[in-house]
Amino acid sequence: MVGNRNIYLTGFMGSGKTTVGRRLAHELSWDFVDLDEAIEARAGMSIPRIFAERGEESFRELESRCLRREATREEPAVIATGGGVVLDPGNRQVMDDSGLIFWLHPSFEVISARLGKSSRARRPLFSDEEKARALYRQRLDVYRTATYEIPVEADETASDVAARISFFVRGKSCDTW
Ligand code: S3P
Repeated sequence: MVGNRNIYLTGFMGSGKTTVGRRLAHELSWDFVDLDEAIEARAGMSIPRIFAERGEESFRELESRCLRREATREEPAVIATGGGVVLDPGNRQVMDDSGLIFWLHPSFEVISARLGKSSRARRPLFSDEEKARALYRQRLDVYRTATYEIPVEADETASDVAARISFFVRGKSCDTW
């Protein structure tokens, strides 16, 4: 079993990081952290409001600060990140230094079919379908820098994906991390 290291879930908005992360943490009996929730708690306001009132740059600063705080927690955790956390090379370094990064990789079509109206409304960068598709394409290269890529098919549930990662993690010893 792994030592004191985190599991980071990365990937585009709507790729299932939070749902998969919760299940995975449950299966491993680890703590679960949702970085977006941590940011909202810290700012005392929702993400759409942070974007609207303070702008994306300010959101990114907050995101980096929250990531650093969670990365150094005592107990290892499954940490579901926001889709843009990997854009900052410093953030990628923090994650690499403190755990393994799993990129949940459904196609844009799968994401788009799964994301309902209210889920889109919670995501300021997903208000326009075509802009979101372009952002998805643009980010593929940075998502690819993850330690492991987890392709996600249209018919796979969050439980399926969590079970796959959990099986993989349980099979690894501390030394091979
Ligand atoms: C963002 C993704 C969101 C949230 C913010 C910005 C992004 O998180 O952090 O709206 O830049 O991709 P989810 O990936 O959980 O939707």
